[in-house]
Amino acid sequence: MSTTLYYFTGTGNSLCVTRGLCNSLADCEIQSISKIWNQEKLEASSDKVGLIFPLYYWGLPLIVKEFIQKMNFMKSSYIFAVVNAGGDVPGIPFLQLDQILKENSKRLNASFFLSMPSNYIVGGSQATAEEQREKLINAKEIISRIADKIIIKEDTPVISTIERKAITIEKMNAKFHKKVNESDKFFYVDENCSGCGICETVCSLNNIIMTDSKPEWLHKCQQCLACINYCPENSIQYGDVTIGKRRYHHPRITPEDL
Ligand SMILES: Cc1cc2nc3c(=O)[nH]c(=O)nc-3n(C[C@H](O)[C@H](O)[C@H](O)COP(=O)(O)O)c2cc1C
Ligand code: SF4
Ligand code: SF4
Repeated sequence: MSTTLYYFTGTGNSLCVTRGLCNSLADCEIQSISKIWNQEKLEASSDKVGLIFPLYYWGLPLIVKEFIQKMNFMKSSYIFAVVNAGGDVPGIPFLQLDQILKENSKRLNASFFLSMPSNYIVGGSQATAEEQREKLINAKEIISRIADKIIIKEDTPVISTIERKAITIEKMNAKFHKKVNESDKFFYVDENCSGCGICETVCSLNNIIMTDSKPEWLHKCQQCLACINYCPENSIQYGDVTIGKRRYHHPRITPEDL
């Protein structure tokens, strides 16, 4: 295989980006990070390697950080990242990736950003349905432009200007990493739960088991928010901040895709 795309997704945006890219690249395969990240040995064998994932607290999701730290990239000559987020990407995830890769004699060859509808219903403001639709339409064109750059191996080294702002942001991201596994203690279901088990299906980290037809969270959460956003009854809440809020997941990514 000449290109392997490794993705992490909660609510499908990153998976849809990954599929779009793969369709535009010849000889490409995709792999789910959450399905392989706890394997003892991880080695990339493709010449081009892509890392596609959502921005979490201005930086890397914890699972992505741990995956890159474990992965052996020695056989690959071109490593790129495609980060998507509801708002802007401040460059920190690319800096973080570049630093980890450099510890293993590699570097990030190219960094791409894509704006997608936000799934972060536990905070921030929510886009309207029209704004979400617009972002998804624009994404198609951006994915195609990114693919063109990957095909010619466009190389844009990360500029490592560790400014004061970047350090502050990285500290916030590190604080998130410390608490993320236990963050599921704020989830609960209300009386509308039908026991359908979709929350268990969409949790790619196997952090949910059904007990007496109700979900139970196992405290190895990555806070991807798939469970809360895919629940067809809007029955899962996170403290009191999600009550009455519209849920979001990518319209073309089904629970079975995750
Ligand atoms: C835990 C968490 C933290 C997030 N932090 C940010 C953020 O710092 N900035 C931002 O613009 N979006 C943030 N988001 C929104 C996601 O990056 C965005 O919706 C992404 O497209 C979701 O991708 P997915 O559908 O592949 O999971 C966050 C989402 C989650 C779940
Ligand atoms: S997806 Fe929602 S309704 Fe279905 S079991 Fe989970 S919490 Fe209950
Ligand atoms: S429990 Fe929910 S938020 Fe946590 S990893 Fe699973 S699907 Fe994601």
